[in-house]
Amino acid sequence: TGEISLINEGKLTTCTHLPYKPFQMSEGGKVVGFDVDLVDLVADELGVKQEITDTPFEGIQSGELLNSGKCDVAAAGMTILPVREQNMDFSDPYFEATQALLVKKGSPYRSLADLRGKKLGTQLGTTGEEYAKQNQDANGYEIIQFEDLGLLTTAVLTGQVDAAINDNGVLYDFVKDNPETEVSVEFDTGEQYGIAVRTGNDALRGKINDVLKKAKESGEYDRIYEKWFGK
Ligand code: ARG
Repeated sequence: TGEISLINEGKLTTCTHLPYKPFQMSEGGKVVGFDVDLVDLVADELGVKQEITDTPFEGIQSGELLNSGKCDVAAAGMTILPVREQNMDFSDPYFEATQALLVKKGSPYRSLADLRGKKLGTQLGTTGEEYAKQNQDANGYEIIQFEDLGLLTTAVLTGQVDAAINDNGVLYDFVKDNPETEVSVEFDTGEQYGIAVRTGNDALRGKINDVLKKAKESGEYDRIYEKWFGK
């Protein structure tokens, strides 16, 4: 692999946080998804196999897991943010997202203001949680935190929360499988996902950017998009 050194010989070790369908999820004992396919292209290019570690999102978004040498890359539908860039380096953007609300179909909660006195579920350490906190005083809802997207979306189904905030892509995917729910509003937070490496690992970051660029040019990116987001 030339100048690129990997923490485990012959492997590209990826930290992610499951489930975040369709970006990463377990299926038949294997981790699959949009991000998995993209990072597989990088692994192929390096002539190694991708090995995926599931770990809480907090340690991913803080850069802790990258900096302590637990993984070579973090690929977790993670939004590129200036505060995160202080602790890790991001690839070029590979996906766009905005925050959105998941509610039970036909529910009256179609804005943050509608949630006054109600319960809003968030996912720990995410941009959605940050957005909910920033707007809490103005809108007077209670925030209930969940460790992962599975627990968060289940809380909407069971009525434990009145609405949940998360990225639009994963919520629209959830609604496809759960037609008793809907996305009632999007907030236009203008987010972009990046694949992260340890601060200063320019060799690996450069390789990831090359692979993303090539995949976009060749149609491979569109094929992967269609596979996970098509009908
Ligand atoms: N895009 C959001 C963020 O960066 C949520 C990402 C959550 N990803 C996950 N695999 N759990 O904060």
